[in-house]
Amino acid sequence: MEETVIVQPKELHQLIQTKLEKSGLKPEHANEVAKHLVFADANGIHSHGAVRVDYYAERIAKGGVTLEPKITFEKTGPSTGIVHGENGVGQFVALKSLEYAMDVAKESGVAVVGVRRMSHSGALSYYVKKAAEQDLIAISMCQSDPMVVPFGGKENYFGTNPIAFAAPRKVGDPVVFDMATTVQAWGKILDARSKNKDIPDTWAVDSEGKPTTNPHDVHGLLPIAGPKGFGLMMMVDILSGMLLGLPFGKNVSSMYNDLTKGRDLGQIFILIDPKRFTDLEQFKENIETMVSDLHAIPVAEGFKQVYYPGEINQLNFENYMANGIPIATAIYDYLTSDTIHFNQYGGSNAFAEKE
Ligand code: NAI
Repeated sequence: MEETVIVQPKELHQLIQTKLEKSGLKPEHANEVAKHLVFADANGIHSHGAVRVDYYAERIAKGGVTLEPKITFEKTGPSTGIVHGENGVGQFVALKSLEYAMDVAKESGVAVVGVRRMSHSGALSYYVKKAAEQDLIAISMCQSDPMVVPFGGKENYFGTNPIAFAAPRKVGDPVVFDMATTVQAWGKILDARSKNKDIPDTWAVDSEGKPTTNPHDVHGLLPIAGPKGFGLMMMVDILSGMLLGLPFGKNVSSMYNDLTKGRDLGQIFILIDPKRFTDLEQFKENIETMVSDLHAIPVAEGFKQVYYPGEINQLNFENYMANGIPIATAIYDYLTSDTIHFNQYGGSNAFAEKE
């Protein structure tokens, strides 16, 4: 097992903020990215937590993030809008866009707000949870770089295009479901490569489009549930990219190719005020009922209990925020070092082997 250290959320936040400020990000933006990454690690979404700081710092230092973006809000109808992010740091642009969308949804009952030209915005649960904490139902989706073979194909086209959903509930924190539309994240392949460990043949394909168990042969990731995940990732790309006039499919910019240029990515927020459709309190009680119903389902062999979708992350969050978050020792060592970034991402092909 990977070596980890337990880090208190406040310390982790401070370390991330300092590193990002040193790379050039202004304090307000660095603070928002730090909040986001601590949230991700606290949820157990380590693929989108502090592990990203080195890459973000390198992109920021090399000019691939606009340090003073003029974020503008364009209302295009009673419930629609576009936010122009000017390739500002993704987490800050996404948060401002969400706040704008929440105002629109509260005013008109629903909001469909697209974010144009932003950098990577991380774990989408962060945003939808915030909306659900204000009694809104929220969906968010975003594009990511082309790393996935279409069903039946052997060249990559779509990204790992995630979908997140949240709804408010009566007693507990909102229910939040958040997933990539690939079987596994790219980070899991990298992890298997570093340990020289086989992967299940359901995760990825080689350059011939054949399922592979060798992480070093991976050329493309596989969509969840074959053609169904393939369809979902198409939907995400159409809604969060093409609809906003952005590059789509294989033309979405790559995370590592050119760190001196903005990524021009897109994200979409779809918010619904439940009050416009039903009694809000009853709705929130019904979510509680659904949670208890699921907990009461008899457990199949090999399982401990039925968790509602997203519950595992919520349990992590409660535990880690109170008791500290496990962070890979190598990441902690980097965060506490004087190195701003290791210069290991620029110009690299994600699928190439690192020496
Ligand atoms: P995952 O596979 O760990 O979990 C997916 C969902 O399934 C979660 O809501 C989780 O709570 C739920 N789940 C897992 N095990 C469960 C169980 N036993 N019972 C009930 N529910 C269960 O997540 P994945 O797909 O690896 O995504 C991780 C993160 O990566 C997400 O936050 C996503 O937004 C982010 N992401 C961001 C991208 C970007 O470009 N910004 C691209 C791709 C992913």
